[in-house]
Amino acid sequence: MNKEKIIVTAALPYANGPIHLGHLAGAYLPADIYVRYKRLNGDDVLFVCGSDEHGVPITITADKEKVKPQTIIDRFHNINKDSFEKFGMSFDIYSRTSLPIHHETAKEFFLEFHKKDLLKEKKSMQFYDAKANMFLPDRYVEGTCPNCGSDNARSDECENCGALYESNQLKNPKSKISGETPILKETSHYYFPLGDFQKRLENYIQEMDEKYEWKENVLQYCRGWFKEGLQDRAITRDLDWGVSVPLDGAKGKVLYVWFEAVLGYISALKDYSIKMDKPDLWKKYWQDPDTKYVAFIGKDNVVFHTIVFPAILMAWNDGKKDKFCLPQNVPANEFLNFEGKKFSKSRGWGIDVIDFVTQFPADSLRYSLTCNLPEMRDSDFQWKEFQARHNNELADILGNLVNRTFTFAFKNFEGKVPAIYTLNSLDSQMLKFSEDSTQKVGELIEKYKFKDSLLEIMNLARSANKYFNDSEPWKTFKSDKEQCSTTINICLQTIYTLAELIQPFLPNSSQKIFSMLNEKETVWSDAGKINLTEGKELNKPQILFQKIEDETIERMVKMLGHVETDEKKEEKQLISIEDFQKVEIKTALIIEAEKIPKSERLLKLKVDLGDHKRQIIAGIAKHYQPDDLINKKVLIVANLKPAKLMGMESEGMVLAVENQNGKLSVIEIDPEINLGVRAK
Ligand code: MF3
Ligand code: ZN
Repeated sequence: MNKEKIIVTAALPYANGPIHLGHLAGAYLPADIYVRYKRLNGDDVLFVCGSDEHGVPITITADKEKVKPQTIIDRFHNINKDSFEKFGMSFDIYSRTSLPIHHETAKEFFLEFHKKDLLKEKKSMQFYDAKANMFLPDRYVEGTCPNCGSDNARSDECENCGALYESNQLKNPKSKISGETPILKETSHYYFPLGDFQKRLENYIQEMDEKYEWKENVLQYCRGWFKEGLQDRAITRDLDWGVSVPLDGAKGKVLYVWFEAVLGYISALKDYSIKMDKPDLWKKYWQDPDTKYVAFIGKDNVVFHTIVFPAILMAWNDGKKDKFCLPQNVPANEFLNFEGKKFSKSRGWGIDVIDFVTQFPADSLRYSLTCNLPEMRDSDFQWKEFQARHNNELADILGNLVNRTFTFAFKNFEGKVPAIYTLNSLDSQMLKFSEDSTQKVGELIEKYKFKDSLLEIMNLARSANKYFNDSEPWKTFKSDKEQCSTTINICLQTIYTLAELIQPFLPNSSQKIFSMLNEKETVWSDAGKINLTEGKELNKPQILFQKIEDETIERMVKMLGHVETDEKKEEKQLISIEDFQKVEIKTALIIEAEKIPKSERLLKLKVDLGDHKRQIIAGIAKHYQPDDLINKKVLIVANLKPAKLMGMESEGMVLAVENQNGKLSVIEIDPEINLGVRAK
């Protein structure tokens, strides 16, 4: 296949709050899977994103916090950039729309349209807050939707029914700033003639769908818009935060955020080109007719990417030699909910990406989100399901296959890839399965069916486990050494293929497996084939996925619905000296330690506090052999309420700390120190 030149964009998130799992599932994760897959195929991809730093929500937040909008955008640009990195997004550039290059680009488009006489200047009546002395942007006004009658409708669009209207059509308007009923006052704005582009847009979408098969949910939104009929849209606003309108007499006016934000995709590539020291590079992508442009977004952004942005590009391209390419596909997802409800910062419902990935491996989140992508309809994230997918699928299927194969190879074949001899029918089937799966996975990704493609990969891992079981290498090792060698060879080849196939989905785990296989640069076309040569040295196996405990998940569930403002968070971290003095931390000597039958986690300890002895049930069985604990001098919390664990009394808690790999070590103290002494 020919190598493709591809621009992939993911919606530019507002730098007005931290991104949450819903955003990842809507646009970012699918985009990243697609990009990583394309790169592995040798395609020439540029993956573009950045912060959308204008718009009214940002000024509202800034007003609320009594800071400048710049403070808000700096804060969330950094948080979101960092969140994306930790989640494993492989953007080539994460730009921002506050950059001069973006302002220039947006102004250039506006002026070009002005010059072409496309824009109509129209006077209109706009909401004006007489008390606050300002024109009210759309989001500063709330009222009743003229279409469906729902309350809390915004001044220009209704979240409930999706209707778009002019603000003077809104019923019972209220200013969000003063709470007063705003008056309508005359102002003048520039309008983009979207209506004039309807026929061309319909043809464009039809042609793209015929060639590249657009998703049904996306087509449905488009049909809805066309049926209603496209209207001219105001592309300027009375506001002091944004890209100012580059015309005399337009003081106090900025470009409408949606008009300029979509142009952020272009300016982000310009930003990239400048940083790469090749200022014209962006043209080679945006203005090459052979470039394939794919825009990943969530459903609330569909109209702007299938209609508004293409219309802007068409308007620019008319009469120009160098034309921008239009989206070839817009594989938008629906929404992800969280434990049955919409994400809501104010109600404490959901979890920020940064908080998630500091507590759990990013790959596990990527896995469970992919299994749950809202590709055709809304879906739901649940903590219990997250745990089950991690423990029962990642650890028990994929992790187990890798672990048992490597352990076997180290025990019986000196940690080397054993030879492959005559294939029996099980062996041939396994190899065939691997080859077929690879093909299917690729085809599904090309069709933006990420959920199904991951399912296919896991089926391959499942059948590899079954192949291991059915081949019984622990028996053939004694009865038919060549057969045993063949089995383990094929298991390792399949693990190679799996490591390749999971790379777009679980990049970290893929890398770990490849380093265990002692392999570096790999490409997609290797998958499904024999790659490892006989006698190759393997690296020692490491555990890929540590099980997630029930307690951990219960803690996460409990936190739901608790609203934590930043101040509250800080306050909570500080305790008074009195608070600390409530905790009696004392020195103690471990004198007995034994395993508890049927418990993997708990050990029964007897500790000596000098004047008395007591029993503590400690959750450290996975980290210590009982004998290793005896005679250690440790710190315990001595005034903890007694608790019953597995039917046994526990009076206190041994202090321990965890290292990065989750291994616990008890805090040991100087053997000279007396027993029962209180720490202060
Ligand atoms: N900031 C918008 C949102 O979060 C998305 C903007 S996408 C772009 O919904 F096309 F405008 F860049
Ligand atoms: Zn409505």
